Amino acid sequence: YDTKIPRYSTADKTSFGFPTGRERWPIIITGVIDDAYRSVSQCDDTEKRDEGKKIVEELARLKYEVEHDRPLVPIRDDGYPDVALYNKELEQLGNPSWLNVQWLFCECYLFRRINTSFSLSTYWKGYDVFARQKIKTFRSSRPAVLELAGRYKDLVQKLENNKGQATDEESDRLLFMEVCEICLWGNATDLSLLTSLSYEDIQKLQGSEARKASEKNILVNDLPAAYDLLLKAKKEGKKERRVDIVLDNAGFELYVDLILAGYLLSAGLATVVVLHPKSMPWFVSDVVPGDFAALLNALANPRHFYETPSEDDHLQDKIPAPLSDAEADQLSYLFQEWSRLHSEGQLMLRPNRFWTHPGSYWRLPHVEKELLEDLKTSELVVFKGDLNYRKLTGDASWDPTTPFTEAIGPLGPGSGVNILALRTCKADVVVGLKPGQDEELRQTEGGGGDSGARKWAWSGKWAVVSFSNGQ
Ligand code: F6P
Ligand code: MG
Repeated sequence: YDTKIPRYSTADKTSFGFPTGRERWPIIITGVIDDAYRSVSQCDDTEKRDEGKKIVEELARLKYEVEHDRPLVPIRDDGYPDVALYNKELEQLGNPSWLNVQWLFCECYLFRRINTSFSLSTYWKGYDVFARQKIKTFRSSRPAVLELAGRYKDLVQKLENNKGQATDEESDRLLFMEVCEICLWGNATDLSLLTSLSYEDIQKLQGSEARKASEKNILVNDLPAAYDLLLKAKKEGKKERRVDIVLDNAGFELYVDLILAGYLLSAGLATVVVLHPKSMPWFVSDVVPGDFAALLNALANPRHFYETPSEDDHLQDKIPAPLSDAEADQLSYLFQEWSRLHSEGQLMLRPNRFWTHPGSYWRLPHVEKELLEDLKTSELVVFKGDLNYRKLTGDASWDPTTPFTEAIGPLGPGSGVNILALRTCKADVVVGLKPGQDEELRQTEGGGGDSGARKWAWSGKWAVVSFSNGQ
Protein backbone atom coordinates (compact mmCIF):
# COMPACT_ATOMS: atom_id res chain seq x y z
CA TYR A 1 0.00 0.00 0.00
CA ASP A 2 3.03 2.27 0.37
CA THR A 3 4.48 4.62 -2.16
CA LYS A 4 7.05 3.21 -4.60
CA ILE A 5 9.26 6.27 -4.12
CA PRO A 6 12.39 5.23 -2.16
CA ARG A 7 12.18 5.82 1.58
CA TYR A 8 14.85 7.63 3.61
CA SER A 9 17.32 5.26 5.24
CA THR A 10 19.69 5.34 8.21
CA ALA A 11 22.47 4.32 5.82
CA ASP A 12 21.99 7.32 3.56
CA LYS A 13 24.76 9.77 4.39
CA THR A 14 22.73 12.72 3.16
CA SER A 15 19.65 11.89 5.23
CA PHE A 16 19.00 13.16 8.76
CA GLY A 17 18.38 9.48 9.47
CA PHE A 18 22.16 8.98 9.34
CA PRO A 19 23.15 11.15 12.34
CA THR A 20 19.85 10.23 14.01
CA GLY A 21 20.80 6.54 14.20
CA ARG A 22 24.40 7.19 15.15
CA GLU A 23 24.10 10.14 17.53
CA ARG A 24 20.54 10.95 18.51
CA TRP A 25 19.22 7.45 19.25
CA PRO A 26 22.07 6.59 21.64
CA ILE A 27 21.42 9.88 23.48
CA ILE A 28 17.70 9.16 23.65
CA ILE A 29 18.28 5.63 24.98
CA THR A 30 20.76 6.96 27.54
CA GLY A 31 18.03 9.30 28.76
CA VAL A 32 15.67 6.33 29.02
CA ILE A 33 18.22 4.35 31.04
CA ASP A 34 18.89 7.32 33.35
CA ASP A 35 15.21 7.85 34.03
CA ALA A 36 14.50 4.18 34.66
CA TYR A 37 17.54 3.93 36.90
CA ARG A 38 16.40 6.91 38.90
CA SER A 39 12.95 5.44 39.46
CA VAL A 40 14.39 2.05 40.31
CA SER A 41 16.68 3.49 42.93
CA GLN A 42 13.82 5.46 44.50
CA CYS A 43 11.78 2.29 44.78
CA ASP A 44 11.16 0.75 48.22
CA ASP A 45 9.54 -2.49 47.13
CA THR A 46 12.30 -5.09 46.64
CA GLU A 47 10.54 -7.17 44.02
CA LYS A 48 9.71 -4.10 42.01
CA ARG A 49 13.26 -2.82 42.36
CA ASP A 50 14.76 -6.10 41.21
CA GLU A 51 12.52 -6.21 38.20
CA GLY A 52 13.41 -2.57 37.49
CA LYS A 53 17.12 -3.45 37.54
CA LYS A 54 16.52 -6.09 34.87
CA ILE A 55 14.71 -3.53 32.75
CA VAL A 56 17.66 -1.15 33.06
CA GLU A 57 20.00 -3.94 31.93
CA GLU A 58 17.75 -4.73 29.01
CA LEU A 59 17.75 -1.10 27.94
CA ALA A 60 21.53 -0.96 28.18
CA ARG A 61 21.66 -3.96 25.84
CA LEU A 62 19.35 -2.18 23.44
CA LYS A 63 21.74 0.76 23.37
CA TYR A 64 24.60 -1.61 22.65
CA GLU A 65 22.68 -3.16 19.75
CA VAL A 66 22.09 0.24 18.19
CA GLU A 67 25.65 1.44 18.63
CA HIS A 68 27.05 -1.79 17.21
CA ASP A 69 24.65 -1.86 14.31
CA ARG A 70 23.24 -5.28 15.22
CA PRO A 71 20.30 -6.79 13.29
CA LEU A 72 16.87 -5.79 14.53
CA VAL A 73 15.40 -8.70 16.48
CA PRO A 74 11.69 -9.54 16.50
CA ILE A 75 9.61 -7.70 19.08
CA ARG A 76 8.54 -9.93 21.96
CA ASP A 77 4.85 -10.61 22.21
CA ASP A 78 3.30 -8.47 24.91
CA GLY A 79 -0.23 -9.33 23.91
CA TYR A 80 -0.93 -6.48 21.50
CA PRO A 81 -1.69 -7.28 17.87
CA ASP A 82 0.72 -4.67 16.50
CA VAL A 83 3.66 -6.92 17.47
CA ALA A 84 2.81 -9.19 14.55
CA LEU A 85 2.72 -6.21 12.20
CA TYR A 86 6.15 -5.06 13.34
CA ASN A 87 7.66 -8.50 13.05
CA LYS A 88 6.14 -9.25 9.66
CA GLU A 89 7.52 -6.03 8.28
CA LEU A 90 10.91 -6.74 9.82
CA GLU A 91 11.00 -10.01 7.93
CA GLN A 92 9.88 -8.35 4.70
CA LEU A 93 12.68 -5.83 5.06
CA GLY A 94 15.11 -8.77 5.19
CA ASN A 95 16.02 -8.51 8.89
CA PRO A 96 18.06 -5.34 8.50
CA SER A 97 20.45 -3.82 11.03
CA TRP A 98 19.96 -0.54 12.89
CA LEU A 99 22.14 1.64 10.73
CA ASN A 100 21.03 0.33 7.36
CA VAL A 101 17.26 0.30 7.37
CA GLN A 102 14.28 2.47 6.47
CA TRP A 103 14.51 5.34 8.92
CA LEU A 104 10.80 5.67 9.65
CA PHE A 105 10.26 1.96 10.32
CA CYS A 106 13.31 1.67 12.52
CA GLU A 107 12.49 4.74 14.59
CA CYS A 108 8.99 3.39 15.31
CA TYR A 109 10.54 0.00 16.10
CA LEU A 110 12.91 1.67 18.59
CA PHE A 111 10.08 3.12 20.66
CA ARG A 112 8.01 -0.05 20.40
CA ARG A 113 11.03 -2.04 21.62
CA ILE A 114 11.58 0.29 24.59
CA ASN A 115 7.91 -0.11 25.41
CA THR A 116 8.07 -3.92 25.59
CA SER A 117 10.63 -3.76 28.40
CA PHE A 118 7.94 -2.16 30.51
CA SER A 119 4.80 -3.75 29.09
CA LEU A 120 6.17 -7.26 29.68
CA SER A 121 6.98 -6.52 33.30
CA THR A 122 4.79 -7.06 36.31
CA TYR A 123 5.44 -3.85 38.24
CA TRP A 124 6.40 -1.39 35.52
CA LYS A 125 3.56 -1.78 33.05
CA GLY A 126 2.34 1.60 31.90
CA TYR A 127 5.42 3.35 33.32
CA ASP A 128 6.18 6.43 31.17
CA VAL A 129 9.93 6.66 30.95
CA PHE A 130 9.65 10.11 29.35
CA ALA A 131 7.23 11.65 31.86
CA ARG A 132 9.95 13.37 33.92
CA GLN A 133 11.44 15.02 30.85
CA LYS A 134 8.04 16.10 29.58
CA ILE A 135 7.11 17.79 32.84
CA LYS A 136 10.49 19.39 33.23
CA THR A 137 10.37 21.01 29.81
CA PHE A 138 6.81 22.14 30.33
CA ARG A 139 7.87 23.90 33.51
CA SER A 140 10.70 25.56 31.66
CA SER A 141 8.35 26.96 29.04
CA ARG A 142 6.71 29.05 31.77
CA PRO A 143 7.22 32.51 30.14
CA ALA A 144 5.43 31.48 26.95
CA VAL A 145 2.74 29.60 28.88
CA LEU A 146 1.96 32.70 30.94
CA GLU A 147 2.00 35.02 27.95
CA LEU A 148 -0.49 32.83 26.11
CA ALA A 149 -2.71 32.25 29.14
CA GLY A 150 -3.32 35.98 29.42
CA ARG A 151 -4.10 36.34 25.75
CA TYR A 152 -6.35 33.29 25.68
CA LYS A 153 -8.54 34.56 28.49
CA ASP A 154 -9.05 37.94 26.76
CA LEU A 155 -9.74 36.26 23.48
CA VAL A 156 -12.27 33.75 24.73
CA GLN A 157 -14.11 36.37 26.76
CA LYS A 158 -14.31 38.66 23.70
CA LEU A 159 -15.60 35.82 21.55
CA GLU A 160 -18.23 34.95 24.14
CA ASN A 161 -19.36 38.59 24.37
CA ASN A 162 -19.57 38.93 20.59
CA LYS A 163 -21.58 35.75 20.11
CA GLY A 164 -24.49 36.31 17.74
CA GLN A 165 -23.20 39.73 16.63
CA ALA A 166 -21.85 40.54 13.20
CA THR A 167 -18.05 40.56 13.17
CA ASP A 168 -15.44 41.68 10.73
CA GLU A 169 -14.67 38.71 8.47
CA GLU A 170 -11.16 39.81 7.74
CA SER A 171 -10.16 40.09 11.39
CA ASP A 172 -11.86 36.77 12.15
CA ARG A 173 -9.73 35.18 9.45
CA LEU A 174 -6.56 36.78 10.79
CA LEU A 175 -7.34 35.56 14.27
CA PHE A 176 -7.75 32.01 12.97
CA MET A 177 -4.41 32.28 11.20
CA GLU A 178 -2.71 33.56 14.31
CA VAL A 179 -4.03 30.87 16.63
CA CYS A 180 -3.07 28.20 14.10
CA GLU A 181 0.41 29.68 13.82
CA ILE A 182 0.81 29.61 17.59
CA CYS A 183 -0.21 25.98 17.43
CA LEU A 184 2.20 25.33 14.56
CA TRP A 185 5.27 26.80 16.25
CA GLY A 186 4.46 24.94 19.43
CA ASN A 187 5.78 22.01 17.45
CA ALA A 188 9.22 23.52 16.96
CA THR A 189 10.29 22.43 20.40
CA ASP A 190 9.80 18.68 20.75
CA LEU A 191 12.01 16.80 23.15
CA SER A 192 13.57 14.46 20.65
CA LEU A 193 15.44 17.47 19.23
CA LEU A 194 16.42 18.58 22.70
CA THR A 195 19.57 16.60 22.20
CA SER A 196 20.74 19.72 20.36
CA LEU A 197 18.77 22.68 21.82
CA SER A 198 19.18 24.32 25.22
CA TYR A 199 16.27 25.42 27.41
CA GLU A 200 17.14 29.02 26.62
CA ASP A 201 16.87 28.28 22.90
CA ILE A 202 13.46 26.78 23.53
CA GLN A 203 12.17 29.78 25.42
CA LYS A 204 13.32 32.03 22.61
CA LEU A 205 11.45 29.90 20.11
CA GLN A 206 8.19 30.09 22.03
CA GLY A 207 7.61 33.83 22.61
CA SER A 208 5.31 36.03 20.52
CA GLU A 209 8.21 38.06 19.08
CA ALA A 210 9.75 34.87 17.76
CA ARG A 211 6.46 33.90 16.21
CA LYS A 212 6.11 37.13 14.26
CA ALA A 213 9.65 36.85 13.04
CA SER A 214 8.98 33.28 11.97
CA GLU A 215 6.04 34.02 9.71
CA LYS A 216 8.36 34.31 6.74
CA ASN A 217 9.61 30.83 7.60
CA ILE A 218 6.29 29.22 6.73
CA LEU A 219 7.11 27.94 3.26
CA VAL A 220 3.64 26.71 2.36
CA ASN A 221 0.64 28.25 4.07
CA ASP A 222 -2.74 26.73 3.25
CA LEU A 223 -4.49 28.08 6.35
CA PRO A 224 -6.93 30.23 4.32
CA ALA A 225 -8.32 27.11 2.60
CA ALA A 226 -8.83 25.36 5.93
CA TYR A 227 -10.55 28.43 7.34
CA ASP A 228 -12.90 28.67 4.36
CA LEU A 229 -13.92 25.08 4.90
CA LEU A 230 -14.76 25.56 8.58
CA LEU A 231 -16.52 28.85 7.93
CA LYS A 232 -18.62 27.30 5.19
CA ALA A 233 -19.80 24.49 7.47
CA LYS A 234 -20.64 27.06 10.14
CA LYS A 235 -22.62 29.22 7.73
CA GLU A 236 -24.52 26.22 6.44
CA GLY A 237 -25.70 25.81 10.02
CA LYS A 238 -24.52 22.21 10.33
CA LYS A 239 -25.31 21.13 13.86
CA GLU A 240 -22.37 18.96 14.73
CA ARG A 241 -19.10 20.17 13.29
CA ARG A 242 -16.09 18.26 14.48
CA VAL A 243 -12.40 19.06 14.24
CA ASP A 244 -9.88 16.33 15.03
CA ILE A 245 -6.32 16.92 16.12
CA VAL A 246 -3.84 14.09 15.74
CA LEU A 247 -1.58 15.19 18.53
CA ASP A 248 2.16 15.29 18.60
CA ASN A 249 4.07 16.41 21.69
CA ALA A 250 3.06 16.82 25.31
CA GLY A 251 3.80 19.89 27.41
CA PHE A 252 3.96 23.19 25.59
CA GLU A 253 2.72 21.78 22.29
CA LEU A 254 -0.29 20.10 23.89
CA TYR A 255 -0.94 23.37 25.68
CA VAL A 256 -1.12 25.27 22.38
CA ASP A 257 -3.21 22.48 20.86
CA LEU A 258 -5.72 23.05 23.63
CA ILE A 259 -5.59 26.76 22.94
CA LEU A 260 -6.49 26.00 19.33
CA ALA A 261 -9.24 23.59 20.40
CA GLY A 262 -10.73 26.05 22.90
CA TYR A 263 -10.58 28.87 20.37
CA LEU A 264 -12.32 26.82 17.64
CA LEU A 265 -15.11 25.96 20.06
CA SER A 266 -15.51 29.53 21.34
CA ALA A 267 -15.45 30.98 17.84
CA GLY A 268 -18.08 28.47 16.72
CA LEU A 269 -15.77 27.07 14.07
CA ALA A 270 -16.29 23.65 15.64
CA THR A 271 -18.80 22.19 18.05
CA VAL A 272 -16.64 19.23 19.09
CA VAL A 273 -12.89 18.69 19.11
CA VAL A 274 -11.47 15.17 19.24
CA LEU A 275 -7.84 14.74 20.28
CA HIS A 276 -5.88 11.66 19.22
CA PRO A 277 -3.05 10.75 21.61
CA LYS A 278 -0.57 7.87 21.37
CA SER A 279 -1.14 4.62 23.25
CA MET A 280 2.43 4.25 24.52
CA PRO A 281 5.39 6.53 25.28
CA TRP A 282 6.44 7.53 21.77
CA PHE A 283 9.19 9.57 20.10
CA VAL A 284 10.17 10.89 23.52
CA SER A 285 7.65 13.64 23.98
CA ASP A 286 4.45 12.53 22.23
CA VAL A 287 1.20 12.85 24.15
CA VAL A 288 -0.17 9.79 25.95
CA PRO A 289 -3.53 10.10 27.74
CA GLY A 290 -1.77 10.60 31.08
CA ASP A 291 -0.10 13.77 29.76
CA PHE A 292 -3.48 15.37 29.20
CA ALA A 293 -4.39 14.67 32.81
CA ALA A 294 -0.98 15.90 33.98
CA LEU A 295 -1.39 19.18 32.10
CA LEU A 296 -4.82 19.82 33.55
CA ASN A 297 -3.48 18.98 37.01
CA ALA A 298 -0.66 21.46 36.63
CA LEU A 299 -3.12 24.18 35.65
CA ALA A 300 -5.55 23.24 38.40
CA ASN A 301 -2.93 24.04 40.94
CA PRO A 302 -0.48 26.36 39.19
CA ARG A 303 1.28 27.61 42.32
CA HIS A 304 2.02 24.09 43.42
CA PHE A 305 3.24 23.19 39.94
CA TYR A 306 5.48 26.17 39.38
CA GLU A 307 6.61 26.99 42.90
CA THR A 308 7.44 23.58 44.34
CA PRO A 309 11.11 22.92 43.59
CA SER A 310 11.58 19.89 41.32
CA GLU A 311 14.06 17.06 41.95
CA ASP A 312 16.63 18.95 39.88
CA ASP A 313 15.94 22.28 41.58
CA HIS A 314 16.67 20.56 44.87
CA LEU A 315 19.97 19.31 43.56
CA GLN A 316 20.93 22.79 42.40
CA ASP A 317 19.44 24.58 45.41
CA LYS A 318 17.15 26.59 43.15
CA ILE A 319 13.94 28.22 44.32
CA PRO A 320 11.46 28.93 41.51
CA ALA A 321 10.07 32.49 41.36
CA PRO A 322 6.49 32.81 42.66
CA LEU A 323 3.57 33.47 40.29
CA SER A 324 1.73 36.78 40.53
CA ASP A 325 -1.96 36.63 41.49
CA ALA A 326 -2.95 37.59 37.94
CA GLU A 327 -0.81 34.82 36.48
CA ALA A 328 -2.19 32.20 38.84
CA ASP A 329 -5.73 33.37 38.00
CA GLN A 330 -5.17 33.13 34.27
CA LEU A 331 -3.86 29.60 34.56
CA SER A 332 -6.77 28.55 36.75
CA TYR A 333 -9.11 30.05 34.18
CA LEU A 334 -7.62 27.75 31.54
CA PHE A 335 -8.11 24.79 33.83
CA GLN A 336 -11.77 25.67 34.39
CA GLU A 337 -12.42 26.24 30.70
CA TRP A 338 -10.73 23.08 29.47
CA SER A 339 -12.09 20.81 32.14
CA ARG A 340 -15.58 22.17 31.50
CA LEU A 341 -15.23 21.50 27.77
CA HIS A 342 -13.93 18.04 28.57
CA SER A 343 -16.69 17.17 31.01
CA GLU A 344 -19.38 18.51 28.68
CA GLY A 345 -18.07 16.28 25.90
CA GLN A 346 -16.98 19.08 23.56
CA LEU A 347 -13.35 18.15 23.99
CA MET A 348 -12.43 14.50 24.04
CA LEU A 349 -9.54 12.09 23.79
CA ARG A 350 -9.77 9.14 21.43
CA PRO A 351 -6.71 6.85 21.48
CA ASN A 352 -6.09 4.30 18.74
CA ARG A 353 -3.12 1.99 18.43
CA PHE A 354 -2.92 2.72 14.70
CA TRP A 355 -0.96 5.86 15.55
CA THR A 356 1.91 3.76 16.92
CA HIS A 357 2.05 1.28 14.06
CA PRO A 358 5.34 1.12 12.19
CA GLY A 359 4.05 2.14 8.80
CA SER A 360 2.95 5.23 6.95
CA TYR A 361 -0.60 6.59 6.99
CA TRP A 362 -0.99 5.41 3.40
CA ARG A 363 -2.03 2.14 5.05
CA LEU A 364 -4.92 3.61 7.01
CA PRO A 365 -7.69 2.64 4.56
CA HIS A 366 -6.46 -0.98 4.55
CA VAL A 367 -5.58 -1.66 8.14
CA GLU A 368 -7.88 0.53 10.21
CA LYS A 369 -11.11 1.03 8.29
CA GLU A 370 -13.09 2.04 11.35
CA LEU A 371 -10.70 4.82 12.16
CA LEU A 372 -10.87 6.03 8.57
CA GLU A 373 -14.68 6.07 8.70
CA ASP A 374 -14.51 8.02 11.93
CA LEU A 375 -12.14 10.62 10.47
CA LYS A 376 -14.41 11.02 7.45
CA THR A 377 -17.14 12.35 9.71
CA SER A 378 -14.86 15.18 10.84
CA GLU A 379 -14.84 18.57 9.07
CA LEU A 380 -11.09 18.78 9.38
CA VAL A 381 -8.35 16.52 10.67
CA VAL A 382 -5.32 18.46 11.83
CA PHE A 383 -2.06 16.48 11.91
CA LYS A 384 0.50 18.02 14.19
CA GLY A 385 4.23 17.80 13.83
CA ASP A 386 7.06 16.25 11.98
CA LEU A 387 6.47 12.57 12.55
CA ASN A 388 2.83 12.79 11.46
CA TYR A 389 3.97 14.58 8.30
CA ARG A 390 6.58 11.90 7.62
CA LYS A 391 3.89 9.27 8.04
CA LEU A 392 1.42 11.11 5.81
CA THR A 393 3.97 11.36 3.01
CA GLY A 394 5.46 7.90 3.62
CA ASP A 395 8.83 9.47 4.54
CA ALA A 396 9.76 9.07 0.91
CA SER A 397 12.27 11.04 -1.13
CA TRP A 398 9.64 12.94 -3.11
CA ASP A 399 10.65 15.71 -5.43
CA PRO A 400 9.95 18.72 -3.19
CA THR A 401 7.63 20.26 -5.77
CA THR A 402 5.28 17.24 -5.64
CA PRO A 403 1.81 18.43 -4.59
CA PHE A 404 0.93 17.53 -0.98
CA THR A 405 -2.31 15.99 -2.22
CA GLU A 406 -0.29 13.51 -4.30
CA ALA A 407 2.30 12.73 -1.62
CA ILE A 408 -0.34 11.64 0.89
CA GLY A 409 -1.58 9.00 -1.57
CA PRO A 410 -4.81 7.28 -0.51
CA LEU A 411 -5.56 9.99 2.05
CA GLY A 412 -5.64 12.67 -0.65
CA PRO A 413 -8.63 13.91 -2.70
CA GLY A 414 -11.38 11.32 -2.86
CA SER A 415 -10.49 9.82 0.53
CA GLY A 416 -13.29 11.73 2.25
CA VAL A 417 -10.87 13.10 4.85
CA ASN A 418 -10.01 16.80 4.93
CA ILE A 419 -6.44 17.12 6.12
CA LEU A 420 -4.41 19.99 7.46
CA ALA A 421 -0.79 19.31 8.37
CA LEU A 422 0.88 21.79 10.75
CA ARG A 423 4.52 20.83 10.67
CA THR A 424 7.84 22.36 11.52
CA CYS A 425 10.45 20.58 9.43
CA LYS A 426 12.74 18.24 11.37
CA ALA A 427 13.48 15.59 8.76
CA ASP A 428 14.27 15.28 5.05
CA VAL A 429 10.89 14.85 3.43
CA VAL A 430 9.15 17.97 2.20
CA VAL A 431 6.59 18.50 -0.56
CA GLY A 432 4.49 21.30 -1.99
CA LEU A 433 7.39 23.71 -2.54
CA LYS A 434 7.71 26.07 -5.49
CA PRO A 435 10.25 25.13 -8.16
CA GLY A 436 13.70 26.35 -7.09
CA GLN A 437 12.72 26.93 -3.46
CA ASP A 438 14.55 23.88 -2.08
CA GLU A 439 17.68 24.83 -4.02
CA GLU A 440 17.51 28.36 -2.63
CA LEU A 441 17.09 27.15 0.93
CA ARG A 442 20.05 24.82 0.55
CA GLN A 443 22.18 27.84 -0.26
CA THR A 444 21.25 29.60 3.01
CA GLU A 445 23.62 29.32 5.97
CA GLY A 446 23.56 25.77 7.32
CA GLY A 447 21.10 24.81 4.56
CA GLY A 448 23.25 21.96 3.28
CA GLY A 449 24.86 23.71 0.28
CA ASP A 450 26.12 21.22 -2.26
CA SER A 451 26.46 18.36 0.23
CA GLY A 452 23.40 16.65 -1.22
CA ALA A 453 21.69 16.89 2.19
CA ARG A 454 18.58 19.00 2.76
CA LYS A 455 19.95 20.32 6.04
CA TRP A 456 17.71 23.39 6.16
CA ALA A 457 14.80 21.02 6.83
CA TRP A 458 16.28 19.39 9.93
CA SER A 459 16.13 21.98 12.68
CA GLY A 460 12.51 23.07 13.07
CA LYS A 461 13.33 26.57 11.78
CA TRP A 462 11.13 26.20 8.68
CA ALA A 463 7.54 25.07 8.51
CA VAL A 464 4.90 23.86 6.07
CA VAL A 465 1.15 24.12 6.53
CA SER A 466 -0.49 21.93 3.91
CA PHE A 467 -4.15 21.28 3.21
CA SER A 468 -5.88 18.56 1.26
CA ASN A 469 -9.58 18.61 0.53
CA GLY A 470 -10.63 14.97 0.67
CA GLN A 471 -13.95 15.39 -1.17
O1 F6P B 1 13.60 14.31 12.57
C1 F6P B 1 13.86 14.39 13.86
C2 F6P B 1 12.80 13.83 14.69
O2 F6P B 1 13.16 13.72 16.01
C3 F6P B 1 12.33 12.52 14.19
O3 F6P B 1 12.92 11.58 14.95
C4 F6P B 1 10.88 12.58 14.35
O4 F6P B 1 10.29 12.35 13.13
C5 F6P B 1 10.59 13.96 14.71
O5 F6P B 1 11.71 14.69 14.70
C6 F6P B 1 9.85 14.19 15.94
O6 F6P B 1 9.28 15.43 15.82
P1 F6P B 1 7.78 15.71 16.08
O7 F6P B 1 7.64 15.67 17.55
O8 F6P B 1 7.56 17.07 15.51
O9 F6P B 1 6.99 14.68 15.37
MG1 MG C 1 6.78 14.17 18.65
